[in-house]
Amino acid sequence: MAKKKTAFFCQHCGAQSAKWMGQCSACQEWNSIVEEPIQQEPQRNWKQTSVPGRTHKALSLQDISLREEDRINTHSEELNRVLGGGLVKGAMLLLGGEPGIGKSTLLLQIALNIVQKVLYVSGEESQSQIKMRAARLQGDNVNCLILTETNTQLIFRSIEEWKPEIVVIDSIQTLHTDSLTATPGSVSQIRESTAELTKFAKETGTPVLMIGHITKDGNIAGPKVVEHMVDVVLHFYGDRNHSYRILRAHKNRFGATAELGIYEMQATGLQEVKNPSEMLVSQKEGGLSGTAVAATLEGARPLMVEVQALVSTAVYGTPQRSATGYDLKRLNMLLAVLEKRAGFKLGAKDVFLNIAGGIKVADPAIDLAVISAVLSSGEDCAIEQGCCFAAEIGLTGEIRPVNRVEQRISEAQKLGFQKIFVSKFSKIDRKDFGISVIKVSRVEAIFTHLFD
Ligand code: TYD
Ligand code: MG
Repeated sequence: MAKKKTAFFCQHCGAQSAKWMGQCSACQEWNSIVEEPIQQEPQRNWKQTSVPGRTHKALSLQDISLREEDRINTHSEELNRVLGGGLVKGAMLLLGGEPGIGKSTLLLQIALNIVQKVLYVSGEESQSQIKMRAARLQGDNVNCLILTETNTQLIFRSIEEWKPEIVVIDSIQTLHTDSLTATPGSVSQIRESTAELTKFAKETGTPVLMIGHITKDGNIAGPKVVEHMVDVVLHFYGDRNHSYRILRAHKNRFGATAELGIYEMQATGLQEVKNPSEMLVSQKEGGLSGTAVAATLEGARPLMVEVQALVSTAVYGTPQRSATGYDLKRLNMLLAVLEKRAGFKLGAKDVFLNIAGGIKVADPAIDLAVISAVLSSGEDCAIEQGCCFAAEIGLTGEIRPVNRVEQRISEAQKLGFQKIFVSKFSKIDRKDFGISVIKVSRVEAIFTHLFD
């Protein structure tokens, strides 16, 4: 009997090597190399690779037709927006997220609300478990069939019989294909199953929505190549202790990746949050020091976010710096700017920063609110109510303008704020906003504005 061919794959990045190593030479991950059987590909000459029965005709862009109805309405406004207007036919979508965050709930809810024929394949739960879950969710798509199967060939057989318009796979790590002997969840199985599903999606124009588990460092488990193979990579995250869940696109071949979808996990499944600013700015009595509200933008949507800071005297030698929902390096930079430009002594203070509601903000327009919250806590003096901020801070201590400032001002006005601080250099054409717009140019100036 011929010896079975094997190769060594890194479970972290998917790199292949000829022998076992303690550390992957491609991604430097330790202890991630696993031996897996491989199939020998028949050698082919490129001249003889034509596939019988298929024509490969190149077309000019003018000759390729585009139809509006190529996007499927998912009946979830938030998901539609994150996808850039709906699900594209033939798209491969990968949804990642921590265990228990609500991935299966989200996709089952979509399957039950959509009008198209759906095949929901689960390798993790039994049909009766899925029925129990479905009973809690609204939606009664009689055209949604549930299949519990992990073998891709058998899944394709079901697809042939039922001819669904959308396929949901929960999860990609449970699949295994007959063409490989490696165990489910291994790099080669995930890669091969994804490749087979991609081929099916592209040839039939059926969108495939797959759930992917994530590793402890937040990446989708399995080889990185899977993320390259699919068209859309979505991440579903949120604080387990909060009921809010955030859906964000990390990659989208058919739209922008800046959009954000917000859901709330309730007893009856995931509800869409229509007015996120109201939920993110906590309802409280005024007069508390250390909080400031920032007018940020997530994609095209304005979002008012509350920043909370706590500055206290360090008990131990080295002061602690901690940030939740915000980049710690950026916080350190802002503290250094405060120290150098505004003479604010923070060297012996602990600084804790938190973005309320469990969300993460990367918009630099939050900088001014961060600085104001830190100053407010340091001075133990509350920022007056109805005040918000939208500006970036530069290393020299200048307050820099941010994009689409008028949209931010309008959102603040809509939510009942009376005052907004922006950069002096912001381009504002409109005169009357119904809210007072205060223009500042330096970090030092903000201090006198707020606390004098
Ligand atoms: P689930 O979708 O199973 O998570 P994942 O597939 O990402 O692992 O979500 C499970 C959590 O959601 C569980 O902790 C219970 C909660 N949940 C609700 O609060 N309400 C509901 O209607 C449902 C179906 C789940
Ligand atoms: Mg699940």
